[in-house]
Amino acid sequence: MKIAGSTILISGGSSGLGAACAQNFLRGGAKVILIDISTPPEEMFAIEKESCIYMRADVTKGDEVRAAIDEGVRRFGQMSAAVICAGVLHSERSLGRNGPASLDAFRRVIEINLIGTFNVLRLSAEAISKMTVEDTTLERGVIVMTSSIAAYEGQIGQSAYAASKGGVAAMTLPIARDLGRVGIRVVSIAPGVFETQMMKSAPDKVRQSLLDETVFPIRFGQPEEFASAVQHVIENPMFNGCTIRLDGGLRMRAK
Ligand SMILES: NC(=O)c1ccc[n+]([C@@H]2O[C@H](COP(=O)([O-])OP(=O)(O)OC[C@H]3O[C@@H](n4cnc5c(N)ncnc54)[C@H](O)[C@@H]3O)[C@@H](O)[C@H]2O)c1
Repeated sequence: MKIAGSTILISGGSSGLGAACAQNFLRGGAKVILIDISTPPEEMFAIEKESCIYMRADVTKGDEVRAAIDEGVRRFGQMSAAVICAGVLHSERSLGRNGPASLDAFRRVIEINLIGTFNVLRLSAEAISKMTVEDTTLERGVIVMTSSIAAYEGQIGQSAYAASKGGVAAMTLPIARDLGRVGIRVVSIAPGVFETQMMKSAPDKVRQSLLDETVFPIRFGQPEEFASAVQHVIENPMFNGCTIRLDGGLRMRAK
């Protein structure tokens, strides 16, 4: 699929990895529908107003996401890709000094990271399926979800986060199988540690221990490197039904 001229939805596009994707797509000549519960920084999109709209939508709400997609398609024309980045981090031991973990906190992480991802995916798939196929590839579009290496080696306190991201990785193949018949590819990326707001809040001790476990390059990833991987997945028709690690060889230890 070509980036130039296409309309691409990004959830969680106001910050971090999603924002880097938005900027990369805009530079590549795409139109961008940004959905998030936080507004994007004004300076970020000031120059691209005619190619990018921000719609406030909570990924867990069907009506809000549908309204954002409808408005984006009305403004820019048929959508052909979605990049699903909205997510939250949470850390809490299953049994801590003050008793068992909060069930509400566990539910919230699953609700946003897993159910919210599926919500954006199902409504995006519906929108993309209406795309007319104009070339011989029969491809209508691509959906990229964001998992995490915590899906494979979640650390102490990461039960909810790891379960949510493991769910994203696990549903990638069945959804790709569901959508193959309409010409939509589905791929997840499992990032290691990237320099975004989410990771800036981590204590120095945690950041250093993650760097100690990284093979090469020994640094955190830049959001632009995530955006570049997403672009490649969108452009390369052979990526489908898999979860790709993007982590500099990092294998997280228990803590
Ligand atoms: N940064 C990392 O190291 C890292 C590593 C692995 C996976 N990830 C995943 O990448 C994704 C993006 O993370 P990031 O680092 O860019 O974080 P970030 O905090 O910079 O951005 C996340 C965005 O999601 C939005 N969001 C949260 N809940 C939402 C909701 N209910 N509805 C709509 N929007 C909502 C936030 O407002 C924010 O703008 C997340 O799913 C995260 O779990 C990040």
